[in-house]
Amino acid sequence: MDERKTVFITGASRGIGHATATYFVRRGWRAITCSREVVPPQCPRNERHAHITIDLSETHRLPEAVERLGELLDGEPLHALVNNAGYSPKGEGGTRLGCLDGDMETWQRVFAINFFAPVFFSRACAPLLAESKGSIVNLTSIAGHRVHPFAGSAYSTSKAALWALTRELAADLAHLGIRANAVCPGEINTAILSPGTEELVERIPLRRLGSPEEVAAAIYYLCSEEASYITGAEIPVNGGQDVY
Ligand SMILES: NC(=O)c1ccc[n+]([C@@H]2O[C@H](COP(=O)([O-])OP(=O)(O)OC[C@H]3O[C@@H](n4cnc5c(N)ncnc54)[C@H](OP(=O)(O)O)[C@@H]3O)[C@@H](O)[C@H]2O)c1
Repeated sequence: MDERKTVFITGASRGIGHATATYFVRRGWRAITCSREVVPPQCPRNERHAHITIDLSETHRLPEAVERLGELLDGEPLHALVNNAGYSPKGEGGTRLGCLDGDMETWQRVFAINFFAPVFFSRACAPLLAESKGSIVNLTSIAGHRVHPFAGSAYSTSKAALWALTRELAADLAHLGIRANAVCPGEINTAILSPGTEELVERIPLRRLGSPEEVAAAIYYLCSEEASYITGAEIPVNGGQDVY
């Protein structure tokens, strides 16, 4: 019988994270997820799914989450870490927060969730992933590469940093047999989108928003044996927005 594989996905209560947990579970993996609330009703509740309740902006509490992850694994291997949780603060009425907007606490909260939690979990999970020759997938963003009409400056710079982290992880963890890659979504139909996103569809060659499942498929691919020679890569899932 094949060994049961386990993935740890941050921020899987909805959107891309939820779709990713479902995608892995349907393919026989066990998913361990986390978010600020207890398991939401739409999440699969069975022996293949376990949940950790934590606010990732509380950096000092991250070791507790890793301890709980260890308890849930109970000696079984961890094959993949998906740093998915993300926070994109908006101004009044969903407006964009630029470099001069918002306070430093907001910038720190964005970086705690979008950047420092992935740094922490990647470091903490490296020994486990080395045993399984597993992989890390970080959720970056199209906004990390160029100014976006809705995504704010703190969010965009945190995603640029997350892409740089992915590159560093790929270089530093390769000798342990761990691959590190990123999936870079464009406009995906989830709660994180700002009002007015529909107007951007005109500029997307495929003329539609992406679905969370389409992102989940790319994440799953990067965690699979099919991607065994891919590390340090960022896969865009954006309907062709890079062609302009
Ligand atoms: N949707 C897009 O168009 C798009 C585009 C580019 C990049 N991305 C990236 O893709 C990832 C997933 O985005 P999404 O669209 O699925 O977002 P979403 O629907 O807003 O979901 C965000 C997830 O992150 C969790 N989260 C947020 N703050 C948290 C905190 N302080 N502690 C713990 N968990 C927290 C949320 O859980 P709770 O709120 O329940 O705690 C939720 O499960 C993010 O990294 C995002 O930046 C998305």
